[in-house]
Amino acid sequence: MSPNFSFNSPPESVLKGSLRPDFHWGYATAATQIEGAWNVDGRGPSIWDTFARIPGKIKDGSTPYDACRSYDFYKEDVALMKSYGVRAYRFSLSWSRIIPLGGRDDPVNEKGIEFYSDLINELLKNDITPFVTLFHWDMPQALEDRYGGMLNQAAYTPDFLRYARLCFERFGDRVKHWITYNEPGVYTLAGYADGVHAPGRSSFRDRNEEGDSSTEPFIVAHTQLVTHARAAKIYREEFKPSQKGMIGITLHGNWSEPWDAEDEADIAAAERAREFEIAWFADPLYGRGEVEYPASMRAQLGDRLPRFTEEEKALMRGSSEFYGMNTYTSFFVRDKKTPPDINDHKGNVDVLDENKQGVSRGAESDTAWLRTSPWGFAKLLRWIWGRYHVPIYMTENGTTAKGETEPSEDILNDTHRIKFFREYLGELAKAVKEDGVDVRSYFAWTFADNWEWAAGYTDRFGLTFIDFNTPEKRRYPKHSATFLREFFGHLIR
Ligand code: NOJ
Repeated sequence: MSPNFSFNSPPESVLKGSLRPDFHWGYATAATQIEGAWNVDGRGPSIWDTFARIPGKIKDGSTPYDACRSYDFYKEDVALMKSYGVRAYRFSLSWSRIIPLGGRDDPVNEKGIEFYSDLINELLKNDITPFVTLFHWDMPQALEDRYGGMLNQAAYTPDFLRYARLCFERFGDRVKHWITYNEPGVYTLAGYADGVHAPGRSSFRDRNEEGDSSTEPFIVAHTQLVTHARAAKIYREEFKPSQKGMIGITLHGNWSEPWDAEDEADIAAAERAREFEIAWFADPLYGRGEVEYPASMRAQLGDRLPRFTEEEKALMRGSSEFYGMNTYTSFFVRDKKTPPDINDHKGNVDVLDENKQGVSRGAESDTAWLRTSPWGFAKLLRWIWGRYHVPIYMTENGTTAKGETEPSEDILNDTHRIKFFREYLGELAKAVKEDGVDVRSYFAWTFADNWEWAAGYTDRFGLTFIDFNTPEKRRYPKHSATFLREFFGHLIR
Protein backbone atom coordinates (compact mmCIF):
# COMPACT_ATOMS: atom_id res chain seq x y z
CA MET A 1 0.00 0.00 0.00
CA SER A 2 1.42 3.32 -0.99
CA PRO A 3 1.20 5.90 1.79
CA ASN A 4 -0.78 9.07 1.33
CA PHE A 5 0.04 12.08 3.50
CA SER A 6 -1.95 15.22 3.93
CA PHE A 7 -0.77 18.49 5.44
CA ASN A 8 -4.05 20.32 5.17
CA SER A 9 -4.77 20.97 8.81
CA PRO A 10 -2.90 23.21 11.27
CA PRO A 11 -0.14 23.47 12.27
CA GLU A 12 1.20 21.85 9.10
CA SER A 13 -1.01 23.86 6.74
CA VAL A 14 0.26 27.04 8.40
CA LEU A 15 3.90 25.98 8.00
CA LYS A 16 3.63 25.60 4.24
CA GLY A 17 6.49 27.37 2.49
CA SER A 18 8.36 28.29 5.67
CA LEU A 19 11.72 26.96 4.49
CA ARG A 20 13.92 28.87 2.02
CA PRO A 21 13.89 27.79 -1.63
CA ASP A 22 17.54 26.75 -1.50
CA PHE A 23 17.04 24.61 1.64
CA HIS A 24 19.23 21.49 1.44
CA TRP A 25 17.50 18.36 2.59
CA GLY A 26 18.55 14.76 2.29
CA TYR A 27 20.15 11.89 4.15
CA ALA A 28 23.35 11.45 6.13
CA THR A 29 25.66 8.45 6.44
CA ALA A 30 29.22 7.66 7.54
CA ALA A 31 31.86 5.58 5.73
CA THR A 32 32.38 2.93 8.42
CA GLN A 33 28.66 2.44 8.86
CA ILE A 34 27.79 1.77 5.22
CA GLU A 35 30.73 1.09 2.92
CA GLY A 36 32.02 -2.37 3.81
CA ALA A 37 34.99 -3.34 1.59
CA TRP A 38 37.19 -2.70 4.60
CA ASN A 39 40.30 -4.31 3.11
CA VAL A 40 39.53 -3.95 -0.59
CA ASP A 41 41.46 -1.93 -3.21
CA GLY A 42 44.26 -0.94 -0.86
CA ARG A 43 42.24 0.40 2.06
CA GLY A 44 44.09 0.39 5.39
CA PRO A 45 42.38 -0.54 8.67
CA SER A 46 40.82 2.07 10.92
CA ILE A 47 40.56 1.90 14.70
CA TRP A 48 36.98 0.63 14.32
CA ASP A 49 38.10 -2.38 12.29
CA THR A 50 40.37 -3.31 15.17
CA PHE A 51 38.03 -2.39 17.99
CA ALA A 52 35.12 -4.40 16.55
CA ARG A 53 37.18 -7.58 16.86
CA ILE A 54 37.58 -7.25 20.63
CA PRO A 55 35.11 -9.67 22.22
CA GLY A 56 32.26 -7.95 24.01
CA LYS A 57 32.70 -4.52 22.46
CA ILE A 58 29.96 -4.79 19.82
CA LYS A 59 26.50 -5.79 21.03
CA ASP A 60 25.86 -8.47 18.40
CA GLY A 61 29.53 -9.38 17.94
CA SER A 62 29.48 -8.01 14.39
CA THR A 63 32.10 -6.06 12.45
CA PRO A 64 31.63 -3.28 9.89
CA TYR A 65 33.50 -5.30 7.26
CA ASP A 66 30.48 -5.63 4.95
CA ALA A 67 27.90 -3.22 6.37
CA CYS A 68 25.57 -2.12 3.51
CA ARG A 69 28.22 -2.78 0.86
CA SER A 70 27.77 0.76 -0.38
CA TYR A 71 31.29 0.63 -1.78
CA ASP A 72 29.92 -1.82 -4.34
CA PHE A 73 26.40 -0.48 -4.66
CA TYR A 74 26.85 3.28 -4.45
CA LYS A 75 25.14 3.81 -7.81
CA GLU A 76 22.06 1.96 -6.59
CA ASP A 77 22.13 4.09 -3.43
CA VAL A 78 22.27 7.31 -5.41
CA ALA A 79 19.41 6.13 -7.64
CA LEU A 80 17.32 5.28 -4.59
CA MET A 81 18.04 8.65 -3.02
CA LYS A 82 17.08 10.32 -6.26
CA SER A 83 13.74 8.47 -6.10
CA TYR A 84 13.37 9.78 -2.52
CA GLY A 85 13.57 13.29 -3.95
CA VAL A 86 16.62 14.46 -1.99
CA ARG A 87 18.56 17.58 -2.87
CA ALA A 88 21.68 16.78 -0.86
CA TYR A 89 23.60 13.86 0.63
CA ARG A 90 25.97 14.00 3.58
CA PHE A 91 28.61 11.26 3.73
CA SER A 92 32.08 10.85 5.16
CA LEU A 93 35.41 9.91 3.65
CA SER A 94 37.38 7.01 5.03
CA TRP A 95 40.82 8.48 5.71
CA SER A 96 42.48 5.05 5.55
CA ARG A 97 40.90 4.37 2.15
CA ILE A 98 42.56 7.53 0.84
CA ILE A 99 45.86 7.30 2.77
CA PRO A 100 46.01 3.71 4.08
CA LEU A 101 48.63 4.48 6.73
CA GLY A 102 47.27 7.95 7.35
CA GLY A 103 50.49 9.93 7.76
CA ARG A 104 51.86 12.98 6.01
CA ASP A 105 54.59 11.02 4.23
CA ASP A 106 52.58 7.87 3.54
CA PRO A 107 51.46 6.91 0.03
CA VAL A 108 48.09 7.98 -1.38
CA ASN A 109 45.73 5.23 -2.54
CA GLU A 110 44.48 6.37 -5.94
CA LYS A 111 41.77 3.72 -5.90
CA GLY A 112 40.31 5.30 -2.81
CA ILE A 113 40.35 8.73 -4.42
CA GLU A 114 38.70 7.27 -7.48
CA PHE A 115 35.87 5.73 -5.45
CA TYR A 116 34.91 9.04 -3.84
CA SER A 117 35.41 10.92 -7.07
CA ASP A 118 32.99 8.56 -8.82
CA LEU A 119 30.48 8.86 -5.99
CA ILE A 120 30.63 12.66 -6.14
CA ASN A 121 30.19 12.62 -9.92
CA GLU A 122 27.24 10.25 -9.63
CA LEU A 123 25.59 12.58 -7.11
CA LEU A 124 26.12 15.66 -9.22
CA LYS A 125 24.79 13.88 -12.29
CA ASN A 126 21.61 13.35 -10.30
CA ASP A 127 21.45 16.94 -9.01
CA ILE A 128 22.30 15.90 -5.47
CA THR A 129 24.64 18.25 -3.61
CA PRO A 130 27.45 16.49 -1.71
CA PHE A 131 28.17 17.50 1.90
CA VAL A 132 31.44 15.84 2.89
CA THR A 133 32.70 15.00 6.38
CA LEU A 134 36.46 14.47 6.65
CA PHE A 135 36.47 12.64 9.98
CA HIS A 136 33.60 10.53 11.20
CA TRP A 137 35.46 8.63 13.94
CA ASP A 138 37.52 6.22 11.78
CA MET A 139 41.10 7.13 12.67
CA PRO A 140 43.65 5.18 10.61
CA GLN A 141 44.91 2.38 12.85
CA ALA A 142 48.50 3.17 11.86
CA LEU A 143 48.29 6.62 13.46
CA GLU A 144 46.85 5.22 16.65
CA ASP A 145 49.73 2.73 16.75
CA ARG A 146 52.42 5.25 15.89
CA TYR A 147 51.71 7.93 18.41
CA GLY A 148 48.33 7.47 20.08
CA GLY A 149 46.23 9.41 17.57
CA MET A 150 44.68 12.59 18.89
CA LEU A 151 46.28 12.32 22.31
CA ASN A 152 49.44 13.53 20.60
CA GLN A 153 48.41 16.86 19.14
CA ALA A 154 51.89 17.71 17.81
CA ALA A 155 52.28 14.49 15.85
CA TYR A 156 48.65 14.30 14.73
CA THR A 157 48.27 17.85 13.38
CA PRO A 158 50.45 17.60 10.24
CA ASP A 159 48.91 14.24 9.37
CA PHE A 160 45.35 15.50 9.58
CA LEU A 161 46.22 18.65 7.66
CA ARG A 162 47.84 16.71 4.86
CA TYR A 163 44.74 14.52 4.59
CA ALA A 164 42.43 17.54 4.61
CA ARG A 165 44.50 19.37 1.99
CA LEU A 166 44.53 16.33 -0.25
CA CYS A 167 40.72 16.10 -0.07
CA PHE A 168 40.32 19.81 -0.89
CA GLU A 169 42.72 19.38 -3.82
CA ARG A 170 41.11 16.32 -5.28
CA PHE A 171 37.41 16.86 -4.57
CA GLY A 172 37.05 20.57 -3.92
CA ASP A 173 36.29 21.43 -7.52
CA ARG A 174 32.97 19.62 -6.97
CA VAL A 175 32.43 19.63 -3.20
CA LYS A 176 31.27 22.99 -1.82
CA HIS A 177 30.24 21.97 1.71
CA TRP A 178 32.93 20.61 4.00
CA ILE A 179 32.61 19.36 7.56
CA THR A 180 35.91 18.76 9.32
CA TYR A 181 34.77 16.65 12.28
CA ASN A 182 31.60 14.79 13.15
CA GLU A 183 30.58 15.03 16.79
CA PRO A 184 34.01 15.57 18.34
CA GLY A 185 32.36 15.32 21.76
CA VAL A 186 31.06 11.81 21.17
CA TYR A 187 34.37 10.67 19.70
CA THR A 188 36.01 12.04 22.82
CA LEU A 189 33.71 10.78 25.55
CA ALA A 190 32.72 7.40 24.13
CA GLY A 191 36.27 6.69 22.97
CA TYR A 192 38.35 8.10 25.84
CA ALA A 193 36.15 8.35 28.91
CA ASP A 194 33.59 5.55 28.75
CA GLY A 195 35.68 3.33 26.47
CA VAL A 196 32.63 2.03 24.61
CA HIS A 197 33.80 3.30 21.22
CA ALA A 198 37.16 2.99 19.48
CA PRO A 199 39.90 3.42 20.50
CA GLY A 200 38.32 2.10 23.71
CA ARG A 201 40.26 4.02 26.33
CA SER A 202 38.33 4.38 29.53
CA SER A 203 40.61 6.98 30.97
CA PHE A 204 38.43 7.87 33.89
CA ARG A 205 38.00 4.36 35.20
CA ASP A 206 41.56 3.21 34.65
CA ARG A 207 43.27 6.26 35.97
CA ASN A 208 44.65 4.66 39.08
CA GLU A 209 46.78 2.28 37.06
CA GLU A 210 49.27 4.90 35.89
CA GLY A 211 48.30 7.93 37.84
CA ASP A 212 45.65 10.42 36.80
CA SER A 213 44.75 10.14 33.12
CA SER A 214 41.34 11.73 33.54
CA THR A 215 42.50 14.67 31.46
CA GLU A 216 42.72 12.55 28.31
CA PRO A 217 39.24 13.36 26.96
CA PHE A 218 39.87 17.07 27.31
CA ILE A 219 43.12 16.78 25.35
CA VAL A 220 41.42 14.84 22.56
CA ALA A 221 38.67 17.45 22.37
CA HIS A 222 41.24 20.25 22.23
CA THR A 223 43.13 18.51 19.43
CA GLN A 224 39.97 18.34 17.36
CA LEU A 225 39.08 21.98 17.92
CA VAL A 226 42.52 23.26 17.01
CA THR A 227 43.03 20.99 13.99
CA HIS A 228 39.55 21.86 12.76
CA ALA A 229 40.58 25.52 12.83
CA ARG A 230 43.89 24.85 11.10
CA ALA A 231 42.24 22.84 8.32
CA ALA A 232 39.64 25.57 7.90
CA LYS A 233 42.39 28.18 7.57
CA ILE A 234 44.04 26.14 4.83
CA TYR A 235 40.71 25.80 3.06
CA ARG A 236 39.87 29.45 3.31
CA GLU A 237 43.28 30.75 2.28
CA GLU A 238 44.27 28.27 -0.39
CA PHE A 239 41.08 26.81 -1.82
CA LYS A 240 38.03 28.90 -1.09
CA PRO A 241 39.01 31.82 -3.37
CA SER A 242 38.82 29.58 -6.44
CA GLN A 243 36.53 26.77 -5.24
CA LYS A 244 34.03 29.03 -3.49
CA GLY A 245 32.78 26.49 -0.97
CA MET A 246 32.26 26.66 2.77
CA ILE A 247 33.64 24.79 5.77
CA GLY A 248 32.28 24.03 9.21
CA ILE A 249 32.05 21.39 11.92
CA THR A 250 29.24 19.17 13.21
CA LEU A 251 28.52 19.10 16.95
CA HIS A 252 26.23 16.78 18.84
CA GLY A 253 23.86 18.06 21.47
CA ASN A 254 20.62 17.16 23.19
CA TRP A 255 18.43 19.50 25.17
CA SER A 256 18.81 19.46 28.97
CA GLU A 257 15.71 20.55 30.87
CA PRO A 258 15.65 21.24 34.63
CA TRP A 259 14.12 18.38 36.63
CA ASP A 260 12.35 20.95 38.79
CA ALA A 261 11.58 23.96 36.62
CA GLU A 262 11.00 26.11 39.73
CA ASP A 263 14.28 25.30 41.39
CA GLU A 264 17.22 27.69 40.89
CA ALA A 265 19.81 24.98 41.41
CA ASP A 266 18.21 22.72 38.79
CA ILE A 267 17.85 25.59 36.34
CA ALA A 268 21.57 26.33 36.74
CA ALA A 269 22.37 22.60 36.49
CA ALA A 270 20.53 22.34 33.16
CA GLU A 271 22.51 25.26 31.75
CA ARG A 272 25.72 23.69 33.05
CA ALA A 273 24.84 20.39 31.37
CA ARG A 274 24.32 22.20 28.05
CA GLU A 275 27.64 23.93 28.49
CA PHE A 276 29.53 20.72 29.24
CA GLU A 277 27.93 18.96 26.30
CA ILE A 278 27.60 21.67 23.65
CA ALA A 279 29.35 24.91 24.60
CA TRP A 280 32.53 22.89 25.35
CA PHE A 281 33.06 23.01 21.56
CA ALA A 282 30.70 25.75 20.47
CA ASP A 283 31.93 28.55 22.76
CA PRO A 284 35.55 28.45 21.51
CA LEU A 285 34.30 28.33 17.92
CA TYR A 286 31.31 30.66 17.88
CA GLY A 287 31.26 32.45 21.21
CA ARG A 288 31.63 36.17 21.65
CA GLY A 289 34.50 37.74 23.57
CA GLU A 290 37.68 35.89 24.35
CA VAL A 291 38.21 32.36 23.01
CA GLU A 292 37.83 30.11 26.04
CA TYR A 293 35.95 27.08 27.30
CA PRO A 294 32.73 27.83 29.24
CA ALA A 295 33.35 29.31 32.68
CA SER A 296 31.39 26.46 34.30
CA MET A 297 33.84 23.94 32.85
CA ARG A 298 36.91 25.92 33.82
CA ALA A 299 35.53 26.25 37.36
CA GLN A 300 35.00 22.51 37.75
CA LEU A 301 37.97 21.18 35.77
CA GLY A 302 40.65 23.81 36.33
CA ASP A 303 43.88 23.02 34.54
CA ARG A 304 42.70 19.60 33.46
CA LEU A 305 41.07 21.60 30.68
CA PRO A 306 43.77 22.71 28.21
CA ARG A 307 44.44 26.42 27.62
CA PHE A 308 44.28 27.96 24.17
CA THR A 309 47.57 29.57 23.15
CA GLU A 310 47.35 33.07 21.66
CA GLU A 311 47.93 31.59 18.23
CA GLU A 312 45.17 29.01 18.70
CA LYS A 313 42.78 31.68 19.90
CA ALA A 314 43.34 33.71 16.76
CA LEU A 315 42.68 30.64 14.62
CA MET A 316 39.49 29.63 16.34
CA ARG A 317 37.17 32.59 15.75
CA GLY A 318 35.30 32.46 12.48
CA SER A 319 36.87 29.12 11.58
CA SER A 320 33.48 27.47 11.21
CA GLU A 321 31.19 29.17 8.72
CA PHE A 322 28.15 27.31 9.97
CA TYR A 323 26.95 25.32 12.94
CA GLY A 324 26.51 21.66 11.94
CA MET A 325 23.89 20.37 14.34
CA ASN A 326 23.18 16.75 15.23
CA THR A 327 20.43 16.08 17.74
CA TYR A 328 18.25 13.17 18.72
CA THR A 329 16.58 13.58 22.10
CA SER A 330 16.26 15.55 25.35
CA PHE A 331 16.90 14.84 29.03
CA PHE A 332 15.88 16.10 32.45
CA VAL A 333 18.75 17.01 34.73
CA ARG A 334 18.94 17.61 38.43
CA ASP A 335 21.64 19.35 40.40
CA LYS A 336 23.89 16.98 42.33
CA LYS A 337 24.27 18.21 45.84
CA THR A 338 27.66 16.57 46.34
CA PRO A 339 31.01 17.91 45.05
CA PRO A 340 31.93 16.77 41.52
CA ASP A 341 33.77 13.49 41.11
CA ILE A 342 37.02 13.58 39.12
CA ASN A 343 35.32 11.32 36.53
CA ASP A 344 32.50 13.78 35.88
CA HIS A 345 32.18 15.26 32.41
CA LYS A 346 28.54 16.29 32.55
CA GLY A 347 28.64 19.28 34.87
CA ASN A 348 27.83 17.45 38.08
CA VAL A 349 24.21 16.61 37.31
CA ASP A 350 21.95 13.58 37.46
CA VAL A 351 20.40 12.73 34.11
CA LEU A 352 16.80 11.51 34.31
CA ASP A 353 13.94 10.27 32.15
CA GLU A 354 11.20 12.04 34.08
CA ASN A 355 10.80 15.42 35.66
CA LYS A 356 9.60 16.21 39.18
CA GLN A 357 5.95 15.86 38.14
CA GLY A 358 6.64 12.45 36.59
CA VAL A 359 6.37 13.73 33.02
CA SER A 360 8.40 11.57 30.66
CA ARG A 361 10.95 13.10 28.33
CA GLY A 362 9.31 11.27 25.44
CA ALA A 363 8.23 8.03 23.81
CA GLU A 364 10.70 5.16 24.12
CA SER A 365 12.53 3.61 21.21
CA ASP A 366 14.66 0.52 20.85
CA THR A 367 17.73 2.51 21.88
CA ALA A 368 18.12 3.32 25.55
CA TRP A 369 19.32 6.93 25.19
CA LEU A 370 16.85 7.86 22.51
CA ARG A 371 13.37 9.19 23.12
CA THR A 372 11.20 11.36 20.93
CA SER A 373 11.28 14.81 22.53
CA PRO A 374 10.40 17.46 19.95
CA TRP A 375 9.64 19.94 22.75
CA GLY A 376 13.32 19.91 23.72
CA PHE A 377 14.44 20.20 20.11
CA ALA A 378 12.37 23.39 19.82
CA LYS A 379 14.19 24.85 22.83
CA LEU A 380 17.60 23.66 21.67
CA LEU A 381 17.31 25.33 18.28
CA ARG A 382 16.50 28.64 19.91
CA TRP A 383 19.25 28.23 22.52
CA ILE A 384 21.93 27.63 19.87
CA TRP A 385 20.65 30.44 17.69
CA GLY A 386 20.41 32.82 20.62
CA ARG A 387 23.86 32.06 21.98
CA TYR A 388 25.81 31.90 18.72
CA HIS A 389 23.76 33.50 15.98
CA VAL A 390 25.38 31.55 13.18
CA PRO A 391 23.64 29.74 10.29
CA ILE A 392 22.56 26.27 11.38
CA TYR A 393 22.95 23.26 9.12
CA MET A 394 21.11 20.33 10.63
CA THR A 395 23.40 17.48 9.73
CA GLU A 396 21.65 14.61 11.58
CA ASN A 397 18.34 13.82 13.22
CA GLY A 398 16.39 10.57 13.33
CA THR A 399 15.19 7.61 15.33
CA THR A 400 15.22 3.82 15.68
CA ALA A 401 12.46 1.36 16.41
CA LYS A 402 11.74 -1.86 18.18
CA GLY A 403 11.95 -5.24 16.54
CA GLU A 404 12.76 -4.39 12.95
CA THR A 405 14.31 -7.59 11.65
CA GLU A 406 12.29 -8.69 8.59
CA PRO A 407 11.25 -6.47 5.68
CA SER A 408 7.54 -7.05 6.33
CA GLU A 409 4.80 -4.63 5.29
CA ASP A 410 4.51 -3.75 8.93
CA ILE A 411 8.16 -2.79 9.32
CA LEU A 412 8.22 -0.81 6.10
CA ASN A 413 5.16 1.08 7.29
CA ASP A 414 7.21 2.83 9.98
CA THR A 415 4.56 5.10 11.45
CA HIS A 416 6.60 5.83 14.60
CA ARG A 417 9.43 7.21 12.44
CA ILE A 418 6.98 9.26 10.38
CA LYS A 419 5.60 10.65 13.64
CA PHE A 420 9.14 11.50 14.77
CA PHE A 421 9.95 13.44 11.58
CA ARG A 422 6.55 15.09 11.51
CA GLU A 423 7.06 16.45 15.00
CA TYR A 424 10.71 17.44 14.70
CA LEU A 425 10.31 19.05 11.30
CA GLY A 426 7.20 20.84 12.49
CA GLU A 427 9.29 22.37 15.29
CA LEU A 428 12.07 23.22 12.88
CA ALA A 429 9.71 25.00 10.50
CA LYS A 430 8.09 26.84 13.41
CA ALA A 431 11.46 28.07 14.73
CA VAL A 432 12.32 29.36 11.27
CA LYS A 433 8.97 30.96 10.64
CA GLU A 434 8.18 32.38 14.05
CA ASP A 435 11.61 33.23 15.42
CA GLY A 436 13.74 33.66 12.33
CA VAL A 437 16.16 30.90 13.31
CA ASP A 438 18.44 30.56 10.29
CA VAL A 439 18.30 26.83 9.45
CA ARG A 440 19.62 25.94 6.01
CA SER A 441 19.68 22.16 5.83
CA TYR A 442 18.23 18.98 7.25
CA PHE A 443 19.81 15.57 6.87
CA ALA A 444 17.79 12.64 8.19
CA TRP A 445 19.81 9.97 9.95
CA THR A 446 20.00 7.79 8.03
CA PHE A 447 19.65 6.73 4.40
CA ALA A 448 19.62 3.01 5.22
CA ASP A 449 19.86 0.71 8.23
CA ASN A 450 23.57 0.33 8.88
CA TRP A 451 26.31 -0.60 11.32
CA GLU A 452 25.48 1.42 14.41
CA TRP A 453 28.91 1.36 16.08
CA ALA A 454 28.86 -0.47 19.43
CA ALA A 455 25.23 -1.52 18.79
CA GLY A 456 26.30 -3.36 15.62
CA TYR A 457 23.32 -4.16 13.41
CA THR A 458 20.81 -4.12 16.27
CA ASP A 459 19.76 -0.46 15.99
CA ARG A 460 18.00 0.41 12.77
CA PHE A 461 17.91 4.12 12.08
CA GLY A 462 17.35 3.79 8.31
CA LEU A 463 14.57 5.11 6.11
CA THR A 464 15.54 2.21 3.89
CA PHE A 465 15.34 -1.29 5.33
CA ILE A 466 18.39 -3.46 4.66
CA ASP A 467 18.16 -7.22 4.62
CA PHE A 468 21.59 -8.01 6.03
CA ASN A 469 21.02 -11.72 5.39
CA THR A 470 21.18 -11.31 1.62
CA PRO A 471 24.61 -11.13 0.00
CA GLU A 472 23.75 -7.89 -1.80
CA LYS A 473 22.21 -6.32 1.33
CA ARG A 474 18.89 -5.82 -0.42
CA ARG A 475 17.30 -2.41 0.07
CA TYR A 476 13.59 -1.81 0.81
CA PRO A 477 12.22 1.74 1.07
CA LYS A 478 10.25 2.47 4.23
CA HIS A 479 7.19 4.70 4.15
CA SER A 480 9.07 7.39 6.07
CA ALA A 481 11.14 8.04 2.92
CA THR A 482 7.96 8.91 1.03
CA PHE A 483 6.80 11.02 3.93
CA LEU A 484 9.98 13.10 3.95
CA ARG A 485 9.78 13.77 0.24
CA GLU A 486 6.20 14.97 0.55
CA PHE A 487 6.71 16.96 3.73
CA PHE A 488 9.71 18.84 2.36
CA GLY A 489 7.72 19.52 -0.82
CA HIS A 490 5.20 21.20 1.46
CA LEU A 491 7.64 23.06 3.73
CA ILE A 492 10.01 24.49 1.12
CA ARG A 493 8.89 27.61 -0.76
C1 NOJ B 1 25.45 10.33 15.55
C2 NOJ B 1 26.58 9.77 14.75
O1 NOJ B 1 27.20 10.79 14.01
C3 NOJ B 1 26.16 8.63 13.84
O2 NOJ B 1 27.30 8.03 13.32
C4 NOJ B 1 25.27 7.67 14.62
O3 NOJ B 1 24.97 6.54 13.89
C5 NOJ B 1 24.03 8.40 15.04
N1 NOJ B 1 24.38 9.46 15.93
C6 NOJ B 1 23.01 7.52 15.77
O4 NOJ B 1 23.54 7.04 16.94
